[in-house]
Amino acid sequence: MPVPTVTWQGGLDGRLEIIDQTLLPGEYRLISCDDVQSVWDAIKQLKVRGAPAIGVAAAMGTVVGLRTLSPAAPESALFAKLKEVTDYLATSRPTAVNLFWALDRMKSAAEKMRGRGTKAILDGLLQEAKTIRDEDAAMCRAIGRHGAPLVPNGGGVLTHCNAGGLATADYGTALAVLYSAHEQGKRFKVYADETRPLLQGARLTVWELMQNGLDVTLICDNTAAHVMKEGRVQMVVVGADRIAANGDAANKIGTYSVAILAKEHHIPFYVAAPSSTFDLSIPDGSHIPIEERAAEEVTQGFGCRTAPEGCQVYCPAFDVTPARYIAAIITERGLIRKPTTAKVAKHFK
Ligand code: MRU
Repeated sequence: MPVPTVTWQGGLDGRLEIIDQTLLPGEYRLISCDDVQSVWDAIKQLKVRGAPAIGVAAAMGTVVGLRTLSPAAPESALFAKLKEVTDYLATSRPTAVNLFWALDRMKSAAEKMRGRGTKAILDGLLQEAKTIRDEDAAMCRAIGRHGAPLVPNGGGVLTHCNAGGLATADYGTALAVLYSAHEQGKRFKVYADETRPLLQGARLTVWELMQNGLDVTLICDNTAAHVMKEGRVQMVVVGADRIAANGDAANKIGTYSVAILAKEHHIPFYVAAPSSTFDLSIPDGSHIPIEERAAEEVTQGFGCRTAPEGCQVYCPAFDVTPARYIAAIITERGLIRKPTTAKVAKHFK
């Protein structure tokens, strides 16, 4: 990215800026989120999106919501406001666990600073939000290092949605694997699923891979089986929004069908995600809340009506790929091959 997808300019009185991803690839615009409502809207409307980037935006958004307090306000007022702001941001989107993980981390950072006074806690929370961002950036690099050896030199890799620089604090999760392999001199073709209905693949993945000089080809979602059958794809790698304790992984709607297709064609299917995307409190993917989006995203996406007015629509934004379809989960700590509950637990011990 020319600039990171979520940034904080300056100190406590500084600015939270995001790339407005709804405008890409037509326009590259940085917007500033000056109050907590605009942070909530930015997450809800997918101006900032992708599980890790949502987490970073929520952490920084917490500071935006809290700094309306006077530094002279009593700590009790700060903790009341912290609850109000984090509860509110938690209602923006339900599936990506990084959102709740980041908000919990901000709350526990504040608890640890109890007694130091409102101003010191506010400064400390800004620092914590920046640390969350920096750690995410480091996790992207580590995921890239662990995943790069899996990329077939001279082969083809298929990805779904966008799990790249736009979705994280650095160069992505699934796309980190590809960027890292490319840096190492491997040459391969990337097939990017268009990713209906909001076209994160076409608008975002293709855009950022082209910006970075990777060989990328856009395909419609319903072309995935065909390119696999033609022998063009030797690896699939995707990101995740929430991974259960047994390795079941929620990601953008359509990921599950890609995993089934990969199995049928004997192509390894990898999920790349940082530890902040794991939800070890749930035993399996059936407990993952799946966001449903507005019918208009399907019937008149990008202002063009493509279905009769008033038609019934079902629009889940995510699906869950069972762990048995996953060759390995690539985290910042290494690989969890053929994930199971025991292997996931061991990985994070
Ligand atoms: O609805 P989105 O665009 O936020 O969905 C994003 C995805 O499904 C990504 O693949 C996932 O968050 C991983 S991003 C590193």
